Amino acid sequence: MKDSEKVTCGAQARPSASQKLMVWLILFMCVTYIVYSLKLVSTPTSTTCSHAPFSVQRLSAPNGTAKRERKTELRHVVFGIAASAKLWEQRKNYIKIWYKEKEMRGVVWLDGRVKSEAKEGLPRVMISSDTSNFAYRNKQGHRSAIRISRIVSETVRLGLKDVRWLVMGDDDTVFVTENLVRVLNKYDHRGMYYIGSLSESHLQNIFFSYGMAYGGGGFAISYPLAKALEKMQDRCIQRYPALYGSDDRMQACMAELGVPLTKELGFHQYDVYGNLLGLLGSHPVTPLVSLHHLDLVEPIFPNMSRVESLQRLTIPMKLDSASLIQQSICYDTKRKWTISVSWGFAIQIFRGIFSPREIEMPSRTFLNWYKRADYTAYAFNTRPVTRNPCQKPFVFYFSKAKLNSTLQQTVTEYERHRVSHPECRWKMADPSVLDKVVVYKKPDPHLWDRAPRRNCCRVMKSNKKGRVEIDVGVCRDGEVTEP
Ligand SMILES: *[C@@H]1O[C@H](CO)[C@@H](O)[C@H](O)[C@H]1NC(C)=O
Ligand SMILES: *[C@@H]1O[C@H](CO)[C@@H](O)[C@H](O)[C@H]1NC(C)=O
Ligand SMILES: *[C@@H]1O[C@H](CO)[C@@H](O)[C@H](O)[C@H]1NC(C)=O
Repeated sequence: MKDSEKVTCGAQARPSASQKLMVWLILFMCVTYIVYSLKLVSTPTSTTCSHAPFSVQRLSAPNGTAKRERKTELRHVVFGIAASAKLWEQRKNYIKIWYKEKEMRGVVWLDGRVKSEAKEGLPRVMISSDTSNFAYRNKQGHRSAIRISRIVSETVRLGLKDVRWLVMGDDDTVFVTENLVRVLNKYDHRGMYYIGSLSESHLQNIFFSYGMAYGGGGFAISYPLAKALEKMQDRCIQRYPALYGSDDRMQACMAELGVPLTKELGFHQYDVYGNLLGLLGSHPVTPLVSLHHLDLVEPIFPNMSRVESLQRLTIPMKLDSASLIQQSICYDTKRKWTISVSWGFAIQIFRGIFSPREIEMPSRTFLNWYKRADYTAYAFNTRPVTRNPCQKPFVFYFSKAKLNSTLQQTVTEYERHRVSHPECRWKMADPSVLDKVVVYKKPDPHLWDRAPRRNCCRVMKSNKKGRVEIDVGVCRDGEVTEP
């Protein structure tokens, strides 16, 4: 053994014949071992190893996607609406816009009695339980935040059957319920999910949290999570008396439960002032789920009341909810115009050719929540409304719609918003010759079952004076929006 040790370790030693034999023996054994083990590894790889991860998956998720339960429908959702007796008479008109008594379940939680009118088609009204023994120590806020945060627990305690999701909203939140269901169907309701979106204001998100669902935009809690929350929420709330609102209290409890926010960009808190055209004209490629702060922003259609303009939006919503306010961008190459369609809401026509990466950015028609803050204080990219007076967009607002049942195609009309435009000396076709834009589009209920992609639009050949006709639909093979 000592000799062999010398052979392997010491290169200087002169090997004897027996030592040489020993080296060959060891080498032979090594080669045999390597060949044998290689064989062991290589042959079974193709059979066992490549399949191993799948068999593990099957074991751990016996009821995986293949055997998923039936799709979530509106009847599986319970809405919990935060309201106050003082504003009820006015705010209930927003709820009437979207709530359908026969298809939905919901409870409006109030802080006092109101005249209840059963025939109005509103959700049932309940009075929240007393929270005066909870501490509230925020100087800016109001202690109603505690009552509103507890709506989740109080709704769970009603013991409703066959509930998959609790969806919270304010009395001035308007939901596009078909799109809400589309979004919820992306998630397994048997897991714990907290789904919503952030504020438009970077400062708000810094001040509250980038991990919080803003309450006014609405948020969804899967039922198992709601039940887990119910067990601890009252204790949890007592631990955060200094927080401002109901949604930061909710997030504090979610953090204790260890459940992060799942962000869905179709929920809109709309912490802005002014005109929503910039935001609704360049919506992210995701279904429109909610609108909020409708009392604070201008009516979404000009020359109409807030409630009337939301009622108008329900016309295209009924025809093709998945496509509501979805953007498509195309060019009138002859007249050198850029056309941005926000289906069912507005068309903007710009003189000149803008790239899609510019036009898909919201234009700053709105003002910051913090009035002294500028565009650097938004939580997303924006662009100025116009960089040159000639490029101020001509806006056409949705006016009417119909379904051509023979062609299975929606026909939506948009009328020009007649406002003054700065003088423009460009030798270029003037969009003010137009009165109307007509858009043809097939309803697309399965839009969100596919990978997200903007629709394509095409300017149609038309000899009708004063109007542009546009075809909107799924992009064809090889079709790209090329400026
Ligand atoms: C999976 O499905 C089986 C039969 O379909 C059922 O008995 C079982 O409870 C399910 N498991 C889970 C975790 O849902
Ligand atoms: C606004 O509405 C009123 C009444 O509905 C109408 O008379 C007026 O012409 C409208 N103004 C514009 C600019 O459309
Ligand atoms: C549907 O479109 C076709 C072709 O443009 C037209 O001939 C027909 O009148 C339209 N039908 C309705 C109901 O608008």
